[in-house]
Amino acid sequence: CERLPPDNDYTSSMASEFYRCKSCIFPGDIIKSGTLKKLESLELKRNDVIVASFPKSGTTWMQEIVYLIQTGLDFEGAQKQVLESRFPYLEHPYPGLAAIKKTDGPRFIKTHLPLSLLPKSALENGTKVIYIVRNPKDVAVSYYYFLRMATFVGYRGGMNDFINKFIKGEVPYGPYFEHVLGYWKQHQKNSNYGSNLLWITYEEMHRDPEGSIRRVAHFLDRPLTDDQVRLIAAHTRFDNMARNPSVNYSHWDDLGLRNKEEAPFMRNGLVGDWRSYFDRETNRRFDDFITQHLESSGLKFEFVP
Ligand code: A3P
Repeated sequence: CERLPPDNDYTSSMASEFYRCKSCIFPGDIIKSGTLKKLESLELKRNDVIVASFPKSGTTWMQEIVYLIQTGLDFEGAQKQVLESRFPYLEHPYPGLAAIKKTDGPRFIKTHLPLSLLPKSALENGTKVIYIVRNPKDVAVSYYYFLRMATFVGYRGGMNDFINKFIKGEVPYGPYFEHVLGYWKQHQKNSNYGSNLLWITYEEMHRDPEGSIRRVAHFLDRPLTDDQVRLIAAHTRFDNMARNPSVNYSHWDDLGLRNKEEAPFMRNGLVGDWRSYFDRETNRRFDDFITQHLESSGLKFEFVP
């Protein structure tokens, strides 16, 4: 891994020192290179489930759906503990790898790692991976607010500067398209692992929440009745998740991890929110950025300009 020059737009010292590992950028005091090394040898199992994404793509929404499907709709269990503890964030120090290693049964794992940095055992052992992808214009807006809101990051640059960095790939977990296309290529390969990777978009989940829940349940080999699908869809609707302390990250307030002046974690959950922020020129540059990366890949998103 290679150290990068500090970025002074990040006011928290935890996030200002960046490094690059297998072309992905990490904030050095939050995601440690030592952890990435340890993950190489983590033994993942066939019955573990990974929810993977570029940050701000709808990870939390998908995690809650997966948790409910896998536990046979254990709403009580889902309420008792925050999602962060029920569904550890693989490469993050809390609760991270230690919590994952301690669990015996089928494990729930969230990650923002690119495919190239996932433990090799995931590919070898057929661990099920659900990759959720969202229009990068909405991801960029959501990420901007998140990085301002999280006190352990404290981004203080402007929106336009942030969008420029996003396009250049100079944001945590960037470049965006390396992340997305890494999983896309794997999904396209007709290998065993390809069939263990579910590709789903935030926009599809918005348009057809019940159909998306059914698709996830089918992928996990846990078919649901219509009533069960309706119950999960109601529980995971934006307004219900936004007021549910088990998934809305309000516990971060007590831990001093959120700057309330900036934004809540569940901001507004819209498709196309970028329209309120992008001027014509920004939009043109972003369209070029998308087209340029998709042209050669054969990937067709519903949000392609
Ligand atoms: P916004 O900031 O655009 O509102 P992640 O979980 O990957 O960090 O993604 C967070 C984004 O998903 C936020 O987007 C959040 O509001 C949105 N989100 C979370 N739960 C949602 C739900 N149930 N329905 C729609 N959007 C949701």
